[in-house]
Amino acid sequence: MSTNAIAIILLFLSFLSPISGLNNEGLSLLSWFNSSSSAAAAFFSSWNPSHQNPCTWDFIKCNHGGFVSEISISNIDLHASFPSQVVTFQHLTTLVLSHGNLTGGIPTSIGNLSLLVTLNLSFNAFSGKRPVEIGMLSRLRSLSLNTNLLQGGIPREIGNCSKLRLLELFDNHLSGTIPAEIGQLVALEMFRAGGNSGIEGEIPMQILNCRRLAVLGLADTGITRQIPRNIGELKNLKTLSIYTSKLNGHIPPEIGNSSALEELFLYGNQLSGEIPEELGSLKNLKTVLLWQNQLSGRIPDSFGNCSSLVIVDISLNYLTGEVPSSLANLVSLEELLLSGNNLSGNIPSFIGNFSSLKQLELDNNRFSGAIPTAIGQLKELTQFFAWKNRLHGSIPVDIGFYFHRKPPKGGWKI
Ligand SMILES: *[C@@H]1O[C@H](CO)[C@@H](O)[C@H](O)[C@H]1NC(C)=O
Ligand SMILES: *[C@@H]1O[C@H](CO)[C@@H](O)[C@H](O)[C@H]1NC(C)=O
Ligand SMILES: *[C@@H]1O[C@H](CO)[C@@H](O)[C@H](O)[C@H]1NC(C)=O
Ligand SMILES: *[C@@H]1O[C@H](CO)[C@@H](O)[C@H](O)[C@H]1NC(C)=O
Ligand SMILES: *[C@@H]1O[C@H](CO)[C@@H](O)[C@H](O)[C@H]1NC(C)=O
Ligand SMILES: *[C@@H]1O[C@H](CO)[C@@H](O)[C@H](O)[C@H]1NC(C)=O
Ligand SMILES: *[C@@H]1O[C@H](CO)[C@@H](O)[C@H](O)[C@H]1NC(C)=O
Ligand SMILES: *[C@@H]1O[C@H](CO)[C@@H](O)[C@H](O)[C@H]1NC(C)=O
Ligand SMILES: *[C@@H]1O[C@H](CO)[C@@H](O)[C@H](O)[C@H]1NC(C)=O
Repeated sequence: MSTNAIAIILLFLSFLSPISGLNNEGLSLLSWFNSSSSAAAAFFSSWNPSHQNPCTWDFIKCNHGGFVSEISISNIDLHASFPSQVVTFQHLTTLVLSHGNLTGGIPTSIGNLSLLVTLNLSFNAFSGKRPVEIGMLSRLRSLSLNTNLLQGGIPREIGNCSKLRLLELFDNHLSGTIPAEIGQLVALEMFRAGGNSGIEGEIPMQILNCRRLAVLGLADTGITRQIPRNIGELKNLKTLSIYTSKLNGHIPPEIGNSSALEELFLYGNQLSGEIPEELGSLKNLKTVLLWQNQLSGRIPDSFGNCSSLVIVDISLNYLTGEVPSSLANLVSLEELLLSGNNLSGNIPSFIGNFSSLKQLELDNNRFSGAIPTAIGQLKELTQFFAWKNRLHGSIPVDIGFYFHRKPPKGGWKI
Protein backbone atom coordinates (compact mmCIF):
# COMPACT_ATOMS: atom_id res chain seq x y z
CA MET A 1 0.00 0.00 0.00
CA SER A 2 1.20 3.49 -0.75
CA THR A 3 1.75 5.87 2.13
CA ASN A 4 -1.07 7.98 0.70
CA ALA A 5 -3.44 5.08 0.98
CA ILE A 6 -2.38 4.51 4.60
CA ALA A 7 -2.97 8.16 5.38
CA ILE A 8 -6.42 8.00 3.82
CA ILE A 9 -7.30 4.88 5.79
CA LEU A 10 -6.05 6.44 9.01
CA LEU A 11 -8.08 9.55 8.30
CA PHE A 12 -11.11 7.40 7.62
CA LEU A 13 -10.59 5.44 10.83
CA SER A 14 -10.32 8.60 12.83
CA PHE A 15 -13.77 9.60 11.59
CA LEU A 16 -15.12 6.19 12.41
CA SER A 17 -13.64 5.98 15.89
CA PRO A 18 -16.39 6.54 18.45
CA ILE A 19 -16.60 10.15 19.68
CA SER A 20 -15.39 9.55 23.21
CA GLY A 21 -17.07 12.77 24.43
CA LEU A 22 -16.41 14.96 27.40
CA ASN A 23 -15.03 13.25 30.50
CA ASN A 24 -16.84 13.24 33.84
CA GLU A 25 -15.02 16.24 35.25
CA GLY A 26 -15.97 18.27 32.20
CA LEU A 27 -19.59 17.12 32.40
CA SER A 28 -19.75 18.03 36.10
CA LEU A 29 -18.42 21.50 35.43
CA LEU A 30 -20.82 22.03 32.53
CA SER A 31 -23.89 20.93 34.43
CA TRP A 32 -23.00 23.35 37.23
CA PHE A 33 -22.38 26.12 34.74
CA ASN A 34 -25.76 25.28 33.16
CA SER A 35 -27.39 26.18 36.46
CA SER A 36 -25.74 29.58 36.70
CA SER A 37 -27.19 32.88 35.59
CA SER A 38 -27.37 33.62 31.88
CA ALA A 39 -25.38 36.79 32.54
CA ALA A 40 -22.34 34.57 33.16
CA ALA A 41 -22.52 32.85 29.76
CA ALA A 42 -20.35 35.41 27.97
CA PHE A 43 -17.40 34.51 30.21
CA PHE A 44 -17.61 30.77 29.53
CA SER A 45 -17.45 30.56 25.74
CA SER A 46 -14.37 28.36 26.06
CA TRP A 47 -16.35 25.71 27.96
CA ASN A 48 -16.97 23.63 24.88
CA PRO A 49 -18.99 20.42 25.36
CA SER A 50 -17.35 18.82 22.31
CA HIS A 51 -13.92 18.78 24.00
CA GLN A 52 -12.74 15.57 25.61
CA ASN A 53 -11.71 17.22 28.85
CA PRO A 54 -11.97 20.69 30.37
CA CYS A 55 -8.21 21.25 30.48
CA THR A 56 -8.13 24.08 27.94
CA TRP A 57 -11.16 25.88 29.37
CA ASP A 58 -10.86 29.29 30.96
CA PHE A 59 -10.61 29.22 34.80
CA ILE A 60 -9.54 25.54 34.75
CA LYS A 61 -6.10 23.95 35.02
CA CYS A 62 -5.26 20.27 34.84
CA ASN A 63 -2.31 18.25 36.09
CA HIS A 64 -0.16 16.10 33.78
CA GLY A 65 -2.62 13.26 34.08
CA GLY A 66 -5.39 15.40 32.59
CA PHE A 67 -7.31 15.77 35.84
CA VAL A 68 -8.59 19.13 37.03
CA SER A 69 -6.18 20.57 39.62
CA GLU A 70 -7.38 24.18 39.74
CA ILE A 71 -10.69 25.94 39.43
CA SER A 72 -10.43 29.68 39.82
CA ILE A 73 -13.45 31.86 39.05
CA SER A 74 -13.73 35.38 40.51
CA ASN A 75 -15.84 38.45 39.89
CA ILE A 76 -18.41 36.78 37.65
CA ASP A 77 -22.05 37.01 38.63
CA LEU A 78 -22.86 33.29 38.69
CA HIS A 79 -25.94 33.33 40.92
CA ALA A 80 -25.51 29.59 41.42
CA SER A 81 -24.99 27.25 44.35
CA PHE A 82 -21.78 25.47 45.34
CA PRO A 83 -20.71 23.06 42.56
CA SER A 84 -21.25 19.98 44.68
CA GLN A 85 -19.98 17.54 42.01
CA VAL A 86 -16.56 19.14 42.34
CA VAL A 87 -15.99 17.33 45.66
CA THR A 88 -15.30 14.20 43.60
CA PHE A 89 -12.35 15.85 41.80
CA GLN A 90 -9.62 13.91 43.54
CA HIS A 91 -6.74 15.99 42.15
CA LEU A 92 -8.05 19.44 42.99
CA THR A 93 -5.51 21.63 44.82
CA THR A 94 -7.04 25.08 44.26
CA LEU A 95 -10.69 26.05 44.44
CA VAL A 96 -11.43 29.75 44.12
CA LEU A 97 -15.05 30.78 43.71
CA SER A 98 -15.09 34.35 44.85
CA HIS A 99 -17.26 37.43 44.27
CA GLY A 100 -19.81 35.33 42.40
CA ASN A 101 -23.12 35.78 44.22
CA LEU A 102 -23.03 32.10 45.15
CA THR A 103 -25.71 31.00 47.61
CA GLY A 104 -26.74 28.01 49.71
CA GLY A 105 -24.54 25.90 51.92
CA ILE A 106 -20.99 24.66 51.63
CA PRO A 107 -21.36 20.85 51.45
CA THR A 108 -19.79 18.76 54.20
CA SER A 109 -18.35 16.52 51.47
CA ILE A 110 -15.83 19.30 50.81
CA GLY A 111 -13.75 17.34 53.31
CA ASN A 112 -13.16 14.79 50.52
CA LEU A 113 -10.92 17.18 48.60
CA SER A 114 -7.92 15.85 50.42
CA LEU A 115 -5.28 17.53 48.23
CA LEU A 116 -6.77 21.00 48.53
CA VAL A 117 -4.18 23.69 49.31
CA THR A 118 -6.17 26.86 48.54
CA LEU A 119 -9.87 27.32 49.22
CA ASN A 120 -11.29 30.78 48.55
CA LEU A 121 -15.06 31.13 48.71
CA SER A 122 -14.98 34.75 49.84
CA PHE A 123 -17.43 37.54 48.91
CA ASN A 124 -20.48 35.40 48.20
CA ALA A 125 -23.73 34.74 50.02
CA PHE A 126 -22.99 31.25 51.29
CA SER A 127 -25.08 30.50 54.35
CA GLY A 128 -25.49 27.76 56.92
CA LYS A 129 -22.68 26.36 59.01
CA ARG A 130 -19.07 26.45 58.10
CA PRO A 131 -18.48 22.69 57.68
CA VAL A 132 -16.50 20.93 60.39
CA GLU A 133 -15.13 18.69 57.64
CA ILE A 134 -12.81 21.47 56.52
CA GLY A 135 -10.70 20.11 59.39
CA MET A 136 -10.02 17.06 57.22
CA LEU A 137 -8.16 19.18 54.68
CA SER A 138 -4.74 18.59 56.12
CA ARG A 139 -2.84 20.21 53.24
CA LEU A 140 -4.79 23.44 53.31
CA ARG A 141 -2.58 26.53 53.44
CA SER A 142 -5.07 29.24 52.64
CA LEU A 143 -8.73 29.33 53.70
CA SER A 144 -10.85 32.36 52.84
CA LEU A 145 -14.51 32.15 53.75
CA ASN A 146 -14.84 35.83 54.56
CA THR A 147 -17.75 38.03 53.56
CA ASN A 148 -20.53 35.47 53.41
CA LEU A 149 -23.52 34.70 55.65
CA LEU A 150 -21.99 31.75 57.48
CA GLN A 151 -23.25 30.91 60.96
CA GLY A 152 -22.23 28.78 63.91
CA GLY A 153 -18.95 28.56 65.73
CA ILE A 154 -15.39 28.29 64.54
CA PRO A 155 -15.01 24.50 64.84
CA ARG A 156 -12.14 23.14 66.93
CA GLU A 157 -11.29 20.82 64.03
CA ILE A 158 -9.65 23.83 62.40
CA GLY A 159 -6.66 22.86 64.51
CA ASN A 160 -6.18 19.87 62.20
CA CYS A 161 -5.33 22.10 59.24
CA SER A 162 -1.81 22.33 60.55
CA LYS A 163 -0.31 23.83 57.39
CA LEU A 164 -2.70 26.77 57.39
CA ARG A 165 -0.98 30.12 56.84
CA LEU A 166 -3.97 32.26 56.12
CA LEU A 167 -7.36 31.99 57.80
CA GLU A 168 -9.95 34.57 56.81
CA LEU A 169 -13.38 34.26 58.37
CA PHE A 170 -14.26 37.94 58.72
CA ASP A 171 -17.63 39.52 57.89
CA ASN A 172 -19.92 36.54 58.49
CA HIS A 173 -22.47 35.72 61.20
CA LEU A 174 -20.16 33.44 63.17
CA SER A 175 -20.57 33.14 66.93
CA GLY A 176 -19.07 31.45 69.98
CA THR A 177 -15.54 31.49 71.26
CA ILE A 178 -12.28 31.13 69.38
CA PRO A 179 -11.22 27.51 69.96
CA ALA A 180 -7.95 26.92 71.81
CA GLU A 181 -7.01 24.58 68.95
CA ILE A 182 -6.09 27.70 66.97
CA GLY A 183 -2.78 27.34 68.79
CA GLN A 184 -2.05 24.18 66.79
CA LEU A 185 -1.73 26.29 63.65
CA VAL A 186 1.97 26.97 64.04
CA ALA A 187 2.35 28.15 60.42
CA LEU A 188 -0.44 30.72 60.71
CA GLU A 189 0.53 34.17 59.45
CA MET A 190 -2.84 35.82 59.13
CA PHE A 191 -5.96 35.27 61.21
CA ARG A 192 -8.90 37.55 60.53
CA ALA A 193 -12.28 36.85 62.12
CA GLY A 194 -13.54 40.40 62.69
CA GLY A 195 -16.97 41.60 61.69
CA ASN A 196 -18.67 38.66 63.42
CA SER A 197 -20.54 40.34 66.24
CA GLY A 198 -21.44 36.97 67.80
CA ILE A 199 -17.83 35.95 68.43
CA GLU A 200 -17.26 36.29 72.16
CA GLY A 201 -15.04 35.28 75.02
CA GLU A 202 -11.38 36.04 75.38
CA ILE A 203 -8.51 35.70 72.97
CA PRO A 204 -7.19 32.21 73.74
CA MET A 205 -3.69 32.18 75.25
CA GLN A 206 -2.83 29.37 72.84
CA ILE A 207 -2.72 31.89 70.00
CA LEU A 208 0.73 32.79 71.29
CA ASN A 209 1.92 29.45 69.84
CA CYS A 210 1.29 30.90 66.38
CA ARG A 211 4.76 32.43 66.32
CA ARG A 212 4.58 33.47 62.68
CA LEU A 213 1.41 35.46 63.14
CA ALA A 214 1.69 38.82 61.37
CA VAL A 215 -1.95 39.90 61.30
CA LEU A 216 -4.47 39.32 64.09
CA GLY A 217 -7.84 40.84 63.26
CA LEU A 218 -10.80 40.53 65.62
CA ALA A 219 -12.42 43.95 65.25
CA ASP A 220 -16.19 44.40 65.57
CA THR A 221 -16.66 41.28 67.63
CA GLY A 222 -17.71 40.61 71.21
CA ILE A 223 -14.11 39.70 72.13
CA THR A 224 -13.64 40.61 75.77
CA ARG A 225 -11.26 40.45 78.74
CA GLN A 226 -7.62 41.34 78.38
CA ILE A 227 -5.16 41.25 75.55
CA PRO A 228 -2.98 38.20 76.41
CA ARG A 229 -0.19 39.43 78.64
CA ASN A 230 2.52 37.64 76.66
CA ILE A 231 1.51 39.14 73.34
CA GLY A 232 5.13 40.27 73.05
CA GLU A 233 6.04 36.69 72.19
CA LEU A 234 4.53 37.33 68.75
CA LYS A 235 7.70 38.83 67.29
CA ASN A 236 6.31 38.87 63.74
CA LEU A 237 3.09 40.65 64.58
CA LYS A 238 2.62 43.65 62.30
CA THR A 239 -1.07 44.38 62.70
CA LEU A 240 -3.11 44.00 65.87
CA SER A 241 -6.64 45.03 64.97
CA ILE A 242 -9.24 44.56 67.71
CA TYR A 243 -11.25 47.77 67.53
CA THR A 244 -14.89 48.30 68.55
CA SER A 245 -14.95 45.14 70.61
CA LYS A 246 -15.20 44.60 74.37
CA LEU A 247 -11.60 44.44 75.49
CA ASN A 248 -10.90 45.68 78.99
CA GLY A 249 -7.97 45.77 81.37
CA HIS A 250 -4.62 47.32 80.56
CA ILE A 251 -2.65 47.35 77.34
CA PRO A 252 0.07 44.87 78.37
CA PRO A 253 3.54 46.44 78.57
CA GLU A 254 4.88 43.24 76.99
CA ILE A 255 3.52 44.52 73.68
CA GLY A 256 6.79 46.44 73.48
CA ASN A 257 8.45 43.12 72.63
CA SER A 258 6.36 42.68 69.46
CA SER A 259 9.10 44.50 67.64
CA ALA A 260 7.62 44.16 64.15
CA LEU A 261 4.39 45.94 65.10
CA GLU A 262 3.29 48.59 62.59
CA GLU A 263 -0.42 49.00 63.23
CA LEU A 264 -2.12 49.03 66.60
CA PHE A 265 -5.89 49.41 66.24
CA LEU A 266 -7.56 49.13 69.64
CA TYR A 267 -10.05 51.99 69.54
CA GLY A 268 -13.59 51.71 70.84
CA ASN A 269 -12.93 49.26 73.66
CA GLN A 270 -12.90 49.64 77.44
CA LEU A 271 -9.15 49.61 77.92
CA SER A 272 -7.97 51.39 81.05
CA GLY A 273 -4.70 52.19 82.78
CA GLU A 274 -1.80 53.98 81.17
CA ILE A 275 -0.45 53.81 77.65
CA PRO A 276 2.59 51.61 78.32
CA GLU A 277 5.99 53.27 78.17
CA GLU A 278 7.18 50.12 76.37
CA LEU A 279 5.44 51.22 73.16
CA GLY A 280 8.51 53.39 72.75
CA SER A 281 10.51 50.30 71.73
CA LEU A 282 8.42 49.82 68.59
CA LYS A 283 10.54 51.42 65.90
CA ASN A 284 8.26 50.25 63.07
CA LEU A 285 5.05 51.56 64.55
CA LYS A 286 3.20 53.65 61.96
CA THR A 287 -0.38 53.87 63.13
CA VAL A 288 -1.69 53.95 66.70
CA LEU A 289 -5.46 54.18 67.10
CA LEU A 290 -6.42 54.04 70.77
CA TRP A 291 -9.31 56.50 70.77
CA GLN A 292 -12.45 56.02 72.82
CA ASN A 293 -11.13 53.95 75.66
CA GLN A 294 -10.60 54.80 79.32
CA LEU A 295 -6.86 55.32 79.19
CA SER A 296 -5.44 57.61 81.83
CA GLY A 297 -2.11 59.02 82.93
CA ARG A 298 0.31 60.90 80.71
CA ILE A 299 1.31 60.40 77.11
CA PRO A 300 4.55 58.43 77.62
CA ASP A 301 7.78 60.28 76.86
CA SER A 302 9.00 57.19 75.05
CA PHE A 303 6.42 57.75 72.32
CA GLY A 304 8.94 60.10 70.80
CA ASN A 305 11.14 57.06 70.04
CA CYS A 306 8.62 55.68 67.56
CA SER A 307 10.02 57.74 64.73
CA SER A 308 8.01 55.92 62.02
CA LEU A 309 4.68 57.13 63.40
CA VAL A 310 2.35 58.60 60.79
CA ILE A 311 -1.04 58.51 62.52
CA VAL A 312 -1.67 58.86 66.25
CA ASP A 313 -5.25 59.01 67.49
CA ILE A 314 -5.53 58.82 71.28
CA SER A 315 -8.53 61.12 71.57
CA LEU A 316 -11.55 60.52 73.85
CA ASN A 317 -9.64 59.08 76.81
CA TYR A 318 -8.72 60.47 80.22
CA LEU A 319 -5.14 61.46 79.46
CA THR A 320 -3.59 64.24 81.52
CA GLY A 321 -0.40 66.28 81.66
CA GLU A 322 1.49 68.05 78.93
CA VAL A 323 2.35 66.82 75.45
CA PRO A 324 5.88 65.45 76.01
CA SER A 325 8.65 67.35 74.28
CA SER A 326 10.06 64.06 72.95
CA LEU A 327 7.22 64.05 70.43
CA ALA A 328 9.22 66.68 68.53
CA ASN A 329 10.96 63.65 66.91
CA LEU A 330 7.79 62.53 65.18
CA VAL A 331 8.39 64.55 62.04
CA SER A 332 6.57 62.07 59.76
CA LEU A 333 3.23 62.59 61.49
CA GLU A 334 0.27 63.20 59.21
CA GLU A 335 -2.46 62.99 61.83
CA LEU A 336 -2.19 63.89 65.50
CA LEU A 337 -5.52 63.56 67.23
CA LEU A 338 -5.61 64.31 70.95
CA SER A 339 -9.18 65.68 71.34
CA GLY A 340 -11.36 65.00 74.33
CA ASN A 341 -8.74 64.34 76.97
CA ASN A 342 -7.56 66.43 79.89
CA LEU A 343 -4.25 67.52 78.41
CA SER A 344 -2.79 70.78 79.63
CA GLY A 345 0.13 73.14 79.06
CA ASN A 346 0.92 74.98 75.88
CA ILE A 347 0.34 73.66 72.41
CA PRO A 348 3.95 72.77 71.61
CA SER A 349 5.47 74.88 68.87
CA PHE A 350 7.43 71.88 67.50
CA ILE A 351 4.17 70.81 65.86
CA GLY A 352 5.02 73.50 63.33
CA ASN A 353 7.91 71.24 62.23
CA PHE A 354 5.61 68.37 61.23
CA SER A 355 5.63 69.35 57.60
CA SER A 356 3.38 66.46 56.46
CA LEU A 357 0.71 67.12 59.07
CA LYS A 358 -2.80 67.05 57.60
CA GLN A 359 -4.98 66.77 60.67
CA LEU A 360 -4.39 68.27 64.08
CA GLU A 361 -7.16 67.88 66.61
CA LEU A 362 -6.57 69.31 70.06
CA ASP A 363 -10.11 70.39 71.00
CA ASN A 364 -11.78 69.60 74.32
CA ASN A 365 -8.68 69.62 76.49
CA ARG A 366 -7.19 72.15 78.90
CA PHE A 367 -4.49 73.55 76.67
CA SER A 368 -3.57 77.12 77.51
CA GLY A 369 -1.51 79.94 76.03
CA ALA A 370 -1.44 81.03 72.43
CA ILE A 371 -1.60 78.95 69.29
CA PRO A 372 1.99 78.78 68.02
CA THR A 373 2.42 80.78 64.81
CA ALA A 374 4.51 77.92 63.36
CA ILE A 375 1.32 75.93 62.91
CA GLY A 376 0.34 78.44 60.25
CA GLN A 377 3.28 77.23 58.17
CA LEU A 378 1.94 73.67 57.80
CA LYS A 379 1.15 73.56 54.11
CA GLU A 380 -0.64 70.19 54.18
CA LEU A 381 -2.87 70.98 57.13
CA THR A 382 -6.54 70.68 56.17
CA GLN A 383 -8.12 70.17 59.59
CA PHE A 384 -7.23 71.95 62.79
CA PHE A 385 -9.54 71.70 65.80
CA ALA A 386 -8.63 73.58 68.95
CA TRP A 387 -11.98 74.68 70.36
CA LYS A 388 -12.93 74.13 74.01
CA ASN A 389 -9.54 74.78 75.50
CA ARG A 390 -8.17 77.70 77.50
CA LEU A 391 -6.37 79.29 74.61
CA HIS A 392 -6.01 83.00 74.10
CA GLY A 393 -4.43 85.30 71.59
CA SER A 394 -5.26 85.43 67.93
CA ILE A 395 -5.41 82.88 65.18
CA PRO A 396 -2.08 82.94 63.36
CA VAL A 397 -2.37 84.96 60.16
CA ASP A 398 -1.11 82.11 57.96
CA ILE A 399 -3.92 79.82 59.10
CA GLY A 400 -6.31 82.42 57.73
CA PHE A 401 -4.36 82.31 54.48
CA TYR A 402 -4.66 78.56 54.16
CA PHE A 403 -8.28 78.74 55.11
CA HIS A 404 -8.89 80.69 51.95
CA ARG A 405 -6.62 78.49 49.89
CA LYS A 406 -7.88 75.11 51.03
CA PRO A 407 -11.10 75.17 53.00
CA PRO A 408 -11.24 72.09 55.22
CA LYS A 409 -14.27 69.83 55.34
CA GLY A 410 -15.15 70.56 58.93
CA GLY A 411 -14.10 74.20 58.80
CA TRP A 412 -11.56 75.79 61.07
CA LYS A 413 -12.82 75.24 64.57
CA ILE A 414 -10.79 76.98 67.20
C1 LIG B 1 -26.75 22.03 29.66
O1 LIG B 1 -28.01 22.55 29.27
C2 LIG B 1 -28.37 22.17 27.94
C3 LIG B 1 -29.63 22.88 27.55
O2 LIG B 1 -30.40 23.19 28.66
C4 LIG B 1 -28.53 20.66 27.88
O3 LIG B 1 -28.86 20.25 26.59
C5 LIG B 1 -27.22 20.01 28.30
O4 LIG B 1 -27.37 18.61 28.36
C6 LIG B 1 -26.76 20.51 29.63
N1 LIG B 1 -25.44 20.00 29.85
C7 LIG B 1 -25.08 19.43 30.99
C8 LIG B 1 -23.69 18.92 31.04
O5 LIG B 1 -25.83 19.35 31.94
C1 LIG C 1 -24.43 40.13 42.62
O1 LIG C 1 -25.79 40.39 42.37
C2 LIG C 1 -26.15 41.74 42.52
C3 LIG C 1 -27.65 41.88 42.34
O2 LIG C 1 -28.22 40.75 41.83
C4 LIG C 1 -25.38 42.56 41.52
O3 LIG C 1 -25.68 43.93 41.69
C5 LIG C 1 -23.89 42.35 41.73
O4 LIG C 1 -23.16 43.05 40.75
C6 LIG C 1 -23.55 40.90 41.66
N1 LIG C 1 -22.15 40.68 41.99
C7 LIG C 1 -21.23 40.34 41.12
C8 LIG C 1 -19.85 40.11 41.64
O5 LIG C 1 -21.44 40.20 39.95
C1 LIG D 1 -16.54 11.34 50.42
O1 LIG D 1 -15.70 10.31 50.86
C2 LIG D 1 -16.39 9.31 51.59
C3 LIG D 1 -15.37 8.34 52.15
O2 LIG D 1 -14.34 8.12 51.26
C4 LIG D 1 -17.37 8.63 50.67
O3 LIG D 1 -18.09 7.65 51.39
C5 LIG D 1 -18.32 9.67 50.14
O4 LIG D 1 -19.19 9.11 49.19
C6 LIG D 1 -17.58 10.80 49.49
N1 LIG D 1 -18.53 11.84 49.16
C7 LIG D 1 -18.60 12.37 47.98
C8 LIG D 1 -19.69 13.38 47.77
O5 LIG D 1 -17.84 12.09 47.10
C1 LIG E 1 -9.80 35.38 47.28
O1 LIG E 1 -10.37 35.89 46.09
C2 LIG E 1 -10.53 37.30 46.00
C3 LIG E 1 -10.97 37.66 44.62
O2 LIG E 1 -12.31 37.73 44.52
C4 LIG E 1 -9.24 38.01 46.25
O3 LIG E 1 -9.48 39.40 46.36
C5 LIG E 1 -8.58 37.52 47.51
O4 LIG E 1 -7.31 38.11 47.63
C6 LIG E 1 -8.44 36.01 47.47
N1 LIG E 1 -7.86 35.56 48.71
C7 LIG E 1 -6.66 35.03 48.75
C8 LIG E 1 -6.19 34.63 50.08
O5 LIG E 1 -5.98 34.88 47.76
C1 LIG F 1 -8.82 16.16 63.98
O1 LIG F 1 -7.77 15.56 64.67
C2 LIG F 1 -8.17 14.82 65.77
C3 LIG F 1 -6.94 14.34 66.44
O2 LIG F 1 -6.11 15.44 66.67
C4 LIG F 1 -9.02 13.66 65.30
O3 LIG F 1 -9.48 12.94 66.40
C5 LIG F 1 -10.20 14.20 64.52
O4 LIG F 1 -10.93 13.15 63.95
C6 LIG F 1 -9.75 15.11 63.42
N1 LIG F 1 -10.91 15.70 62.83
C7 LIG F 1 -11.07 15.79 61.56
C8 LIG F 1 -12.32 16.49 61.12
O5 LIG F 1 -10.28 15.37 60.76
C1 LIG G 1 10.99 41.01 76.22
O1 LIG G 1 11.86 40.03 75.70
C2 LIG G 1 13.05 39.90 76.42
C3 LIG G 1 13.96 38.93 75.73
O2 LIG G 1 13.42 38.46 74.55
C4 LIG G 1 12.75 39.43 77.82
O3 LIG G 1 13.92 39.34 78.57
C5 LIG G 1 11.81 40.44 78.46
O4 LIG G 1 11.41 39.96 79.73
C6 LIG G 1 10.61 40.67 77.62
N1 LIG G 1 9.90 41.77 78.20
C7 LIG G 1 8.62 41.76 78.32
C8 LIG G 1 8.04 42.98 78.94
O5 LIG G 1 7.93 40.84 77.94
C1 LIG H 1 13.72 56.10 74.11
O1 LIG H 1 14.93 56.70 73.70
C2 LIG H 1 15.71 57.19 74.74
C3 LIG H 1 16.90 57.84 74.13
O2 LIG H 1 16.53 58.65 73.08
C4 LIG H 1 16.11 56.06 75.64
O3 LIG H 1 16.82 56.59 76.75
C5 LIG H 1 14.88 55.35 76.14
O4 LIG H 1 15.25 54.20 76.86
C6 LIG H 1 14.03 54.92 74.98
N1 LIG H 1 12.81 54.34 75.49
C7 LIG H 1 12.32 53.23 75.02
C8 LIG H 1 11.08 52.75 75.68
O5 LIG H 1 12.80 52.64 74.09
C1 LIG I 1 -9.10 67.08 84.46
O1 LIG I 1 -8.09 67.42 85.41
C2 LIG I 1 -8.52 68.25 86.45
C3 LIG I 1 -7.33 68.66 87.28
O2 LIG I 1 -6.37 67.65 87.33
C4 LIG I 1 -9.57 67.51 87.26
O3 LIG I 1 -10.05 68.33 88.26
C5 LIG I 1 -10.70 67.12 86.34
O4 LIG I 1 -11.63 66.31 87.05
C6 LIG I 1 -10.19 66.34 85.17
N1 LIG I 1 -11.29 66.11 84.25
C7 LIG I 1 -11.50 64.94 83.66
C8 LIG I 1 -12.66 64.87 82.73
O5 LIG I 1 -10.79 63.97 83.86
C1 LIG J 1 12.26 72.55 64.12
O1 LIG J 1 13.26 71.87 63.41
C2 LIG J 1 14.46 72.61 63.33
C3 LIG J 1 15.41 71.87 62.40
O2 LIG J 1 15.43 70.50 62.72
C4 LIG J 1 15.04 72.79 64.72
O3 LIG J 1 16.22 73.55 64.67
C5 LIG J 1 14.03 73.51 65.59
O4 LIG J 1 14.47 73.57 66.90
C6 LIG J 1 12.69 72.80 65.55
N1 LIG J 1 11.70 73.60 66.20
C7 LIG J 1 11.08 73.20 67.28
C8 LIG J 1 10.10 74.15 67.84
O5 LIG J 1 11.26 72.11 67.75
